[in-house]
Amino acid sequence: MHSIFTRKPLSMLHSEAEGENKLTRVLGPLGLTSLGVGAIIGAGIFVLTGQAAAQYAGPAIVLSFIISAIACAFAGLCYAEFASMIPISGSAYTYAYATLGEFLAWFIGWDLIIEYLFAASTVAVGWSGYVVSFLKDFGIYIPANLTAATGTVLTNVPDMGWVQMTKHISTTLAAQGINVASLPTEVCLFNLPAMIAVLIISALLIVGISESATFNSLMVIVKVAVIIMFIGIGFSFVVADNWTPFIPQNTGDWGHFGWSGVLRGAGVIFFAYIGFDAVSTAAQESKNPQKDMPIGIMGSLSISTVLYILVAIVLTGMVHYTNLNVADPVAVGVDAMGSAMFWLRPIIKIAAIAGLSSVILVMLMGQPRIFYSMAKDGLLPPIFTKVHPKYKTPYLSTMITGLAAIILAGVLPISILGELVSIGTLMAFVIVCVSVVVLRKKSPEIPRPFKTPLVPYIPIAGALICAVQMLALPWDTWLRLIIWMLIGLLIYFFYGRHHSKVAQYVESHK
Ligand code: ALA
Repeated sequence: MHSIFTRKPLSMLHSEAEGENKLTRVLGPLGLTSLGVGAIIGAGIFVLTGQAAAQYAGPAIVLSFIISAIACAFAGLCYAEFASMIPISGSAYTYAYATLGEFLAWFIGWDLIIEYLFAASTVAVGWSGYVVSFLKDFGIYIPANLTAATGTVLTNVPDMGWVQMTKHISTTLAAQGINVASLPTEVCLFNLPAMIAVLIISALLIVGISESATFNSLMVIVKVAVIIMFIGIGFSFVVADNWTPFIPQNTGDWGHFGWSGVLRGAGVIFFAYIGFDAVSTAAQESKNPQKDMPIGIMGSLSISTVLYILVAIVLTGMVHYTNLNVADPVAVGVDAMGSAMFWLRPIIKIAAIAGLSSVILVMLMGQPRIFYSMAKDGLLPPIFTKVHPKYKTPYLSTMITGLAAIILAGVLPISILGELVSIGTLMAFVIVCVSVVVLRKKSPEIPRPFKTPLVPYIPIAGALICAVQMLALPWDTWLRLIIWMLIGLLIYFFYGRHHSKVAQYVESHK
């Protein structure tokens, strides 16, 4: 039996990269950057920004965005080195196989499912919220019991509609003399719009990569144009007083304003940056991966960072941060512009729906490509390598991914999904950062079309910042991660280890 630390030989990687490629190479630098922006700008900016500003950082959420961007830039530089050097699909899984060996590669591949598959479901739940609210503005009502995770109890609150009861709402209602117990409630069956979102996008992905890329580019144009419009118009509605104090005084609890609040804000906002690494999953569909992968990764990260910082500046300047604890903070920003700007409200919702659609698309596109790589190595059954004869897409793994994402999006709430996505992604970043240093030591001679600067400092700093952010996440999220990884280990020891193609390759090349 081969060692679980068997590394995938570079000769094997290169023959895979150069050999028969069943996926079609259609993506150039613009397509890849657009793929990155498509995956990045979504629920983070449209949902989480306001909540993080209101609860943790105040106007200093701008600093939280900058801190989180630095951590992601470090990880992004490490991804860029690998993606240009090992330009085949599989992302961090493939990099780990070449550097840290089979066991850790499986470990990271299994972990990436949390990033991609679970992120698609998380964002689909956010999509559902915006779509339900958009349709409501036009008098179309989806039955309340089909709009949230299984078992969620919704209450019909006057002037608010169906909401999940919080302490804040019940206190406000009590102050108005309304008895919460007398209001109608519904227990939800599942989140139907979220399931439909995943279904439609999976179908699109099966039909073809260029159709999907076109749809993605369209969604990216809509969301970026509307965000720029919001920033441009918003600047003239800024009331500078809203920025003071810039860092509100800490309340006495760690993480609630003050510098610790800025740090906690950075942890929450990290979700907004997830997705730049998805560019690396499309390496085998890129025309010139050596040159274009780093452009796609760093370009999309830079564009999103600039937009995020500007939105945060404008939003906290227009609306006092205490009023931003809502599900649609950007729409609240539009309300602050006064009734003359009401026309912008539906447009913002359309931009959010477009933004969230493209995130779901890129995540659902990345996952089957990682499965594809794992199955080609024998660690997953061969069904995941099946490419559609006409559409040239990994259709069976796209279907399996879609089905799993539909179930998760239908039954689980956004809070559980979102935190799992963050912890899983942070772990992947730590491993990629460490792998850059390991491979520089083990194989310094391999040509690296793009080199991470200041090695080992940047990778080590990237790994440390990500590890600290992981530690800041709650214990139950850790527990879910541990259970998920244990299931993965069972699969490896009972299946993957006995079917490894790398082990056979190494054996036959001895
Ligand atoms: N970064 C992605 C989003 O914010 C996951 O939706």
